[in-house]
Amino acid sequence: MIRFLVGVLVFVINTLYRDRAYQRFYVLETVARVPYFSFLSVLHLYETLGWWRKADWLKVHFAESWNELHHLLIMESLGGNKHWGDRLFAQCTALVYYWVVVALYLFSPRTAYNFMQLVEEHAHHTYDTFVKEHEAELKAAPAPLVAINYYRDGDLYLFDEFQTGVKPESRRPAVDNLYDVFVNIRDDEAEHVKTMLACQKLDAQKTFKSPHTVLSPDDHVVLPPVTNKEVEVELHSANL
Ligand SMILES: [Fe+2]
Ligand SMILES: [Fe+2]
Repeated sequence: MIRFLVGVLVFVINTLYRDRAYQRFYVLETVARVPYFSFLSVLHLYETLGWWRKADWLKVHFAESWNELHHLLIMESLGGNKHWGDRLFAQCTALVYYWVVVALYLFSPRTAYNFMQLVEEHAHHTYDTFVKEHEAELKAAPAPLVAINYYRDGDLYLFDEFQTGVKPESRRPAVDNLYDVFVNIRDDEAEHVKTMLACQKLDAQKTFKSPHTVLSPDDHVVLPPVTNKEVEVELHSANL
């Protein structure tokens, strides 16, 4: 059912935006970061009511939304939001999506994380196909300033914070041209898949820590471990 719903969303966007890559990515990034706002809203509600307090979940989901915000800013810098019709479509879809995921997360957090995992797998597949088909032209184009600041020159605390299976400060990708930027976005989406898989593990509620909440000098992998094989299987199945 969840896979079917994601399939419908993907089919509609792919059909409407077949020949307009940056507009399509703009819509995808506007919509795809909304579930992290839904997760944060529900977690804040639980905190406010005094039911549940886990600062690490708030930190990681905010860092994930911050990462997706920068994907969106990159698409805007490439002109993806130029037309009012695309903005209206993206914003209306995002509004509906927000409330659907709030309801889903209230009812079943694991189902909501599974839903988001499938969305992130689709995003990874989309960018992977794009960089393979447009390698030469992307390598000839400059990286947008917003990407250079996010991946290299700015404050990288939140960049490290969303990658729950990676030691902070260990991933510092190149950002020399537009090809590098899209490769980085694709790799970010794979990191989101990894985190969404980890959030569905049975012991996640006990063991979940943000990357900067280091328990001991050697304890850098902070979520229930997700093996590379698990991620590969998921990403491969999304490419079929
Ligand atoms: Fe993204
Ligand atoms: Fe994403």
